[in-house]
Parts: sequence; C-alpha cells; structure tokens
Amino acid sequence: MNRKSEEPGLAAREGAAILLTAVLKEKQAFDDALAAEASGGRLARVEPRDRAFARAIAATALRRLGTIDRLITDCLDKELPKRAGVTQNILRGGAAELLFLRVAAHAAVGMNVEAAGRDDAGRHFKALVNAVLRRLTREGDAMLDSLDTERLDTPDWLWESWVAAYGEETTRRIVRAHYENPPLDISVKDASARAKWAEELGAQVLPTGTLRIEDAGRVEELPGFAEGAWWVQDVAAALPAKLLGNVKGREVLDLCAAPGGKTAELAAMGARVTALDRSKPRLERLKQNLARLDLTAETIVADAGTFEPGRQWDAVLLDAPCTATGTARRHPDVTRLKSPADRDKLARLQERLLTHAAALTAPGGTLVYCTCSLEPEEGVKQIEAFLAAQDDFARARVMPEEVGGMAEIITTDGDIRSLPSHLAIEGGMDGFFVVRLKRNK
Ligand SMILES: C[S@@+](CC[C@H](N)C(=O)[O-])C[C@H]1O[C@@H](n2cnc3c(N)ncnc32)[C@H](O)[C@@H]1O
Repeated sequence: MNRKSEEPGLAAREGAAILLTAVLKEKQAFDDALAAEASGGRLARVEPRDRAFARAIAATALRRLGTIDRLITDCLDKELPKRAGVTQNILRGGAAELLFLRVAAHAAVGMNVEAAGRDDAGRHFKALVNAVLRRLTREGDAMLDSLDTERLDTPDWLWESWVAAYGEETTRRIVRAHYENPPLDISVKDASARAKWAEELGAQVLPTGTLRIEDAGRVEELPGFAEGAWWVQDVAAALPAKLLGNVKGREVLDLCAAPGGKTAELAAMGARVTALDRSKPRLERLKQNLARLDLTAETIVADAGTFEPGRQWDAVLLDAPCTATGTARRHPDVTRLKSPADRDKLARLQERLLTHAAALTAPGGTLVYCTCSLEPEEGVKQIEAFLAAQDDFARARVMPEEVGGMAEIITTDGDIRSLPSHLAIEGGMDGFFVVRLKRNK
C-alpha cells in the first residue's frame, strides 16, 4: 500500500492501537513503545501532528481504560473473540476519541473502521467496530453519566491502597488529576535568569521556582533548550535536592542518579556531585544531559546497595527505584503495568539501599530519601521501619518556606507527601514522598 495515498489520520489510529497493544498486551512502557513506533514502526514516516495525535489517543485510552472497557462491553452481546486481533484496541482508541477527545464522530468512526479493515484479523470485525462506535456516538454521554468512572479507571489494588492512605475524597481528586494532560515543568539552571526565561517561554513561575508551560509542543524547539538553559523536571521532582540546603562548594553523593534531573539541580547550585547509578546506559544519558547543560559531575557505575568507596559524605540523596505510581499524570501506563508484587519487591530493594545510604552518610550529615510513588510501603512505612532500627538517625522536619509555602504537601511528621491533586488550579504535581534525615553520631 502506498502510504502517501492513504487518508490523513489513518496512521494515527493504527499507531494508537499498536501503542495500546504494546502496553496492555506486551507490557512495554508507553514511552518505549512510542519511541519504537516513531523510529522504525507505524509512526516513523508520518507528520509530527499525526504522531502526537496517536499518542493523545492512546494516552487518553489508558487514562480512561476501565470506563472505556465497561462501555465497550455494554455495547457488545458477547465478548470479543481472541482472533479479533487489533479490534479491541481500535475500539478503545475510537471510544477515547469520541467521548474524551471530542473528535468529530464522522472522522473518529470512519477512520477507526478503516483502520480495523487494514488488519488481517480486524477486517472481519469492521461492521462491529462501526456499530459500537456509532452507538457510543449516540448514547455514550448518557451511558457515562451512570458510571463511577474514577473507580473504574483505577485498578483495585491502587484504589484500596490510596483510599486507606488518603481517604476516598482525596483518592477521587487524585484520579481526576490523572485524567488531565499535564503541563511541561522546567528547572532553570541559573536562578537569576528565571524571570527572563519565564517571559521568553510564556511560562508561569510556580511557588518553588519551577517554570510551567501549558501545551508546550516539542521540547527541543523551545527557546533555551539548545543552549542548555534549563531541563525538564516535574515541580515535585525538583524538591528533594533543595532539602540538602546550601550545597555550594560542598560534596554531595547522588545515589540512583540517572538520567540526572537531581544531579543537574545539585550541580547548578554549585555542589561537587558524585552521581552513581547501576545502569551504564542510563548514566550515559545523564552525562549527555549534563553536557547539554554545561554542568559536571563525577559518575560511577555501581550498585548503591554494595558500593564501598571507603569514605562518607555530609550530604547524600537517595532517589530510590520505585513503582512510580505518583507519575501517572505523565505516564498513564504505570497504573496498568505495576502490581502489588512489584511494590513489595521494590520496597525490599529500597530498604536495602536506604540502609546502605545511611552507612555512607557521615556523622552530623544529612540523608534525603525520596520516591515518586503514592504507596506508603515505598514512603512513610519505609522510614518508620528505618528509624525503628537506626537510633543514630532522626527526621529533620521540612519547613513550608523550603517548599514555596506549600504547607499542604508537608505531613504532620514533617515529610513531603505531594499528591497529583496538589497545586490543582495550576495543573497538579507528581506524587513524591521525601524525608530528610540527620545522622547524629
Ligand atoms: C527514580 S530513577 C532516578 C531518577 C534520577 N535521580 C533523576 O532525578 O533523574 C531510579 C534509578 O535507580 C537506578 N537503580 C536501580 N537499582 C539500583 C541500584 N541497586 N543501585 C544503583 N542504582 C540503581 C536505576 O537505574 C534508575 O536510574
């Protein structure tokens, strides 16, 4: 088939279905699947606009997956057979277009029927795709009104975990925050040039100094990217490094450092950073990122749980690997890819890394531990167990003025517990747990 002769928008629908299959069936990370399709797959030779549209369709279908699957089931007399191939994901994409992206019905129905027709298995289900999408066009909004979409769009284990930790009302706010397309957050290298970049980028300045842009478009094309004036980092991810205080001229150990958002922040504040990560390719990315920003750090490939350098640091940051359930606004696949077994395995790894990070912290020194997870097992419970076992460490409370006055993200213990529903008017923030610990002997 001559791709040039195809109707515009067809690749976006086929691409969206491929992305959904990659995430939901093959358990690939959404960003990896998108990169693969864009470099050599169905989205390789299409207009950037179509690629962005495919991404938007698939991301919306992932955000609303439980609701969409219920609606599709309600439109079918019996389950779709396994041999229906791509049909289920075409239907999911079509429903996302009609009900949440509000694409014109003739385009959404027509294109998805055609996309099904181009698939060996899907072409036997063209009539069904047409019938389901037409019914959703007519009745979808009324059907939606009767559904508890927030509950449906959250896997059971996460719903139970969040309701237990934060209460049902806050859980519903978190899920509503996950529905929104997040803005682009930027950390500026030179704090004294922040106002200038805010103006050039048309950005809002958040209370902590992070710049925020709505509908930013391609990051590489924004002013200041090429000259390394800033890097992309969610407002919540910019907080942990700040808790080490004034690091100018001081040595800082950054454990689990790649791809280097926090390393860059520490280096930009004038710290002499040792950045360690287990993954060599990810450390290579860290080096490239620092090179663009004209910042430096010593890099070490090692396991942070067994690293034996024969010395200690006054300032240590451990940004531990985690389920990343706090980043579902930016990564709508995480709630579908992660499981309680992942959480438990990662919590064991975090415990091991935290114990070793403590041994690398000098008496009188500061250790900041953080994860981008909403799960208490990866946050506050980890710290309660740590403090029960280590009497030479105590919490050093985070004060509101250290986080731009956002007292609502500080717990009664003095830790940071940000939620996607915080900063709601400005567009939310990632869910991070951050604790600052002081070693007293
Ligand atoms: C949450 S990411 C770090 C993000 C980074 N701090 C930043 O701000 O850009 C977690 C990192 O931990 C690394 N990692 C996982 N297990 C590790 C281990 N045992 N030792 C060292 N690094 C590890 C992963 O390779 C990954 O780069």
